[in-house]
Amino acid sequence: MLLTEQTWPEVGRYLQGSRAIAVPLGSTEQHGPLGLIGTDALVAEAVARGLGERQGVLVAPTIGLAVAQFNLGFPGTVSLRASTFMAVIEDCVLSLARHGFERIYFVNGHGANVGAARAAFQDVYARWSLGTMPGTAPRCRLRSWWEYPQADALRRAWYGQAEGLHATPSEIAVTLHLRPGSQRSGTGEAPPLLGRDFLRDHGGDNHWDAATHRAAFPDGRVGSHSALATAEQGRQLLEAAIDGACGDFQAFLAEP
Ligand code: NI
Repeated sequence: MLLTEQTWPEVGRYLQGSRAIAVPLGSTEQHGPLGLIGTDALVAEAVARGLGERQGVLVAPTIGLAVAQFNLGFPGTVSLRASTFMAVIEDCVLSLARHGFERIYFVNGHGANVGAARAAFQDVYARWSLGTMPGTAPRCRLRSWWEYPQADALRRAWYGQAEGLHATPSEIAVTLHLRPGSQRSGTGEAPPLLGRDFLRDHGGDNHWDAATHRAAFPDGRVGSHSALATAEQGRQLLEAAIDGACGDFQAFLAEP
């Protein structure tokens, strides 16, 4: 059930039975020579739509622009400042809360969204904590699709260390499933594996500036062997992520 395909009276009736909504979070950035610019948004949206279909939950429009300044050295990347992204999240949550949505479930497809979105949630809650908003604060939860145990087990089994951090075979696999015919050729060789120190310092897209990033990762892959991806793996990964999202979403609704 897509919010964009409802009328306002239909949303009003929905709110009489449910106070929950799912919001996909993506990014618009390079995903190596084999991956689509919209990879993060496509995958998060597909997981959220699967959740919406199975659980009858409304799905808001995908927030497809995100913090991706480190990828601006590659054509096609469009980045928001972290402060802009936080303002978008805050305004989205406050708008939904205005109508009575109380549980807002973000399905995330981009590592750099995690810190900024959770900081924005804190600024939302602070409005109620400081007594500047009436009633009860909404509650937000963010989950990245690859963290659901069902999906995480598959990507570890299939790709191991070659999963890497960016333009991962798992995310490319899901887009191959979602967009048949989107397979690109070339770059069949594996990129250098990432060291433990790099993962400690730069996990979650905690990267430096764009020039430094492109110099370190000239084709855009960050330790990820994108060419391992297949559409069939993508189909299974998407199913696993939707399964994980459904269980986690139910647990979120069941919280007191
Ligand atoms: Ni991505």
